[in-house]
Amino acid sequence: MDDLEKLQKVLLDDIAEANDLKLLESVRVATLGKNGHISLMIKTLGQLAQEERKSRGKDLNILRNTVSNAIDSRRHMLEQQALEKQIAAEKIDVTLPPRPEKEGKIHPLSQAMYEIIAIFENMGFTLAEGPNIEDDYHNFTALNIPPEHPARQEHDTFYFPKQKDGNQLLLRTHTSPVQIRTMAKTKPPIRIITPGRTYRSDYDATHTPNFHQVEGLLIDQDINMGHLKGCLIEFCKQFFEVEDLPVRFRPAFFPFTEPSAEMEIGCSRAGNSLKIGAGDDWLEVLGCGMVHPNVLINCNVDPSTNQGFAFGIGVERMAILKYGIPDLRSFYESDLRWLSHYGFAGANALSQDPVL
Ligand code: DAH
Repeated sequence: MDDLEKLQKVLLDDIAEANDLKLLESVRVATLGKNGHISLMIKTLGQLAQEERKSRGKDLNILRNTVSNAIDSRRHMLEQQALEKQIAAEKIDVTLPPRPEKEGKIHPLSQAMYEIIAIFENMGFTLAEGPNIEDDYHNFTALNIPPEHPARQEHDTFYFPKQKDGNQLLLRTHTSPVQIRTMAKTKPPIRIITPGRTYRSDYDATHTPNFHQVEGLLIDQDINMGHLKGCLIEFCKQFFEVEDLPVRFRPAFFPFTEPSAEMEIGCSRAGNSLKIGAGDDWLEVLGCGMVHPNVLINCNVDPSTNQGFAFGIGVERMAILKYGIPDLRSFYESDLRWLSHYGFAGANALSQDPVL
């Protein structure tokens, strides 16, 4: 056996014994690399006489190709082995039950808002929205709220700094300004429902500086208090899910309605638990009334041909009553334990929420 045959045998043994890719690579570098055994032998060919160089060169070429092929096929084999090992280790057991994923919950305020909106939408009301930052005109003046009205006072309303022209913007204290904005740009008949955030400088167990209302406005011809009552009684029956819900309308005062009323529903407060729809106690649920002619005139609606009714619902109050939530402030504490207790399933369905 000449020297090259011996060398080939040794190298092929080395290759066959290389048990991982790293070892194989070191065999390759030691033989075929720039300063590898075979490469160096090829480099010294020039020193040989022509005849000898030819036959030696041919043999070295054959040796190089044989070794190179052996390395390639060994590498392929080792890679394949590694892949199979990885696949076996990562095998997924499709029969295992899925790990439960944490699911988001719908906040009770969003839920109440959605329920209220859905009931009115079914009655033919459409959604309208307005800005949270309002001006004095839309929040007060156009709604027939006189300059001396307490709601206008510094300590009740969040005012922005006075502008150069003397105007002062504010955070809307109710959703009623959307009535004005809608009537100013739409001719009757109008039938809108307006959910949104509202702000007052108040903080105790029953008041928070930010709260939510749903406003309603219906303007058409020959609208009377009977329409108002029928609409709101139907709403309360559906919202509280009590078919024979006792209700009453008590005279009240709002500058933007005449006559004005507060709607109350029957309840019992036996012991410490509140039961809606039974007993001889009453609970106020919303304010309402026939739109004041001055408000119509401010919006260029002729009160002799068009009338309508309006109402304002406090969303927090409705949620507290319907879902039995004891403290209003907990709505805003962002406590996930509270939310998982009082929240509603199916958050994905509400991802298009326009308001909250
Ligand atoms: N804006 C009133 C408030 O915030 C609620 C209200 C009462 C709205 C009567 C109305 C209404 O539209 O007719 O207290």
